[in-house]
Amino acid sequence: MTTRLRSATCSGADQRAAGVWVLVAALALAGGWSPINAWAADREDAARSGKLIAVQDCEDCHGRDGNSISSTFPKLAAQTEVYLTKQLRQFQGRHRADPAASRMWPVAEALTEQQIKDIASYFSQQKASHGPAADPDVMTRGQKIFQSGIPEKGVPACSACHGDNAEGTAATEAPRLAGQWRRYLVEQLNVFYSDQRPSAVAMHAIVQSLSAQDIDVLAQYLQSLRTD
Ligand code: HEC
Ligand code: HEC
Repeated sequence: MTTRLRSATCSGADQRAAGVWVLVAALALAGGWSPINAWAADREDAARSGKLIAVQDCEDCHGRDGNSISSTFPKLAAQTEVYLTKQLRQFQGRHRADPAASRMWPVAEALTEQQIKDIASYFSQQKASHGPAADPDVMTRGQKIFQSGIPEKGVPACSACHGDNAEGTAATEAPRLAGQWRRYLVEQLNVFYSDQRPSAVAMHAIVQSLSAQDIDVLAQYLQSLRTD
């Protein structure tokens, strides 16, 4: 009885809703307009601002302001413009080819050169979030490797290229690492053992001398850094 009552109420509402949609569809057919066409046209608009591209194409994975909420997706907020531009071109050409990179290929391929510049500029201006600090021992060891390298193993200071506070530098095209997800940092440092990021010539050489423990300590230290 209850079921029949509910379905009776629903079907009344459904019919009214359906009536509205028939009207919308009829108007759309007459005028060639539909919400879907409007969305597509909007996305093809070459003059979309960086913010609009972020909301329409990047937010689901990286967050509207580039601070992703899942560590599966790197943070882009406050990343250097030159690095963002370079990586988008690397995805576009499918040169960056680690397993997760294929999720970026169609996204990057859909962007024009101007849109790449606009979105890189937008994310570079957002404020970055950061993770929690690790145990004092880990923080000390991580900071030491980051700022002085491991001379006995021939590991250079990371800060020489990535900047004193891991903020990234335009001159070396080394990215910001401060506040980045620990999991993503560990994953990429492991990717550098392979040839799946061919633009990362220096990193390919450097990781050969880092142990799994060095990598984890560095990632824990870096995820907690903030630059504001
Ligand atoms: C479906 C999810 C998804 C969407 C949508 C997406 N990304 Fe990504 N993005 C990823 C993943 C996954 C990675 C990590 C790839 C890897 O590990 O190589 C990534 C990596 C990146 C990187 C490299 C970051 C770094 O630190 O090296 C940039 C830059 C980037 N995305 C920009 C964008 C932009 C700009 C948009 C919107 C136009 C976007 N992404 C939309 C999933 C996505
Ligand atoms: C000689 C300069 C140089 C030094 C020294 C250096 N890096 Fe890099 N690093 C780079 C460049 C350039 C890239 C970007 C590679 C690319 O274009 O794919 C990079 C990329 C990275 C990435 C990938 C970040 C991302 O968002 O995908 C990580 C992680 C990283 N470096 C960590 C380190 C650590 C840890 C050290 C110290 C042990 C270090 N780097 C030392 C130049 C350097």
